[in-house]
Amino acid sequence: MGDKPFVSDIKAIRERARKHMENGAVTEAYRADRVTVLKLLNEALATEIVCVLRYKRHYFMASGINAPQVAAEFLEHANEEQGHADQISQRIIQLGGEPNLSPEGILSRSHSEYVEGDGLLDMIEEDLVAERIAIESYAEMVRYLGNDDPTTRRMLEEILAMEEEHADDLVDLLGNLKK
Ligand SMILES: [Fe+2]
Ligand SMILES: [Fe+2]
Repeated sequence: MGDKPFVSDIKAIRERARKHMENGAVTEAYRADRVTVLKLLNEALATEIVCVLRYKRHYFMASGINAPQVAAEFLEHANEEQGHADQISQRIIQLGGEPNLSPEGILSRSHSEYVEGDGLLDMIEEDLVAERIAIESYAEMVRYLGNDDPTTRRMLEEILAMEEEHADDLVDLLGNLKK
């Protein structure tokens, strides 16, 4: 490894910081395509909202001998998906966009689907499918962002890790039910 000097014109950075103050957190160091990132984040937001609604439906509809444990898991996931939706909305604001919370079109902006499911087993399987869709699309977003927007990437990486936990929880529930 050779020496890698840090060369930056501090004077120019100071001057740029004073210009376009209205852009807040978005400076010239922002390398990503903001319009595309905002579109992706609004798709992620719609995905989370559809997941909240689906988990809530499943929580209230869960019935049968195994229901209490499964319903508790559904509710926990619903609340965590709501947390993700809020984090994503916050980041959209930081990037100078607006969270699209209009019910119209939420399902078409969402990557995951809203399937009511017929019975506990079916609900769990549908939730697992939705988590797997979220995992794949968030992983793609993370790769797309690379080093161009590390803050958004890190947020999505954390959300992605939790979706992986959700998928894992669902696999465990399926295993228990099928015993
Ligand atoms: Fe989520
Ligand atoms: Fe999830």
